[in-house]
Amino acid sequence: MAKAATLRWVEVATLDDLWEGEILDVEVDGQIVLLAHLPGGKIVAYQGICPHQEVNLADGEFDEDTAILTCSAHLWKFDLSTGEGVNPKGCRLYRYETRVEEEVIYVGYPPEETRRYNRCRENEEATA
Ligand code: FES
Repeated sequence: MAKAATLRWVEVATLDDLWEGEILDVEVDGQIVLLAHLPGGKIVAYQGICPHQEVNLADGEFDEDTAILTCSAHLWKFDLSTGEGVNPKGCRLYRYETRVEEEVIYVGYPPEETRRYNRCRENEEATA
């Protein structure tokens, strides 16, 4: 992640928009960002498009008990507490910094030239 001092903080939602256990996609500067309100209250933000074949991750299923998101297209699973791929392993979501001030959620955008998403090899397939 980029250093906090270089980030541009963008207001993306409020806590009313994203209750604990929910996910939400927002768009800023033409990029989709996935927000998640994790069990316990932490707000996290990741690339909003699946690193496999660019399907919107917010269309997936989020298990609020485990913080695991399952992509709707080919069932890849990601741990939204870390961004790590669970199935298949080794495919990590790009993570944005977040902060919450007076119920407003902000995402920290790195400088424009910084790549803000990860892609994973097409031959990585989830196993049942
Ligand atoms: Fe998400 Fe294939 S596009 S698992």
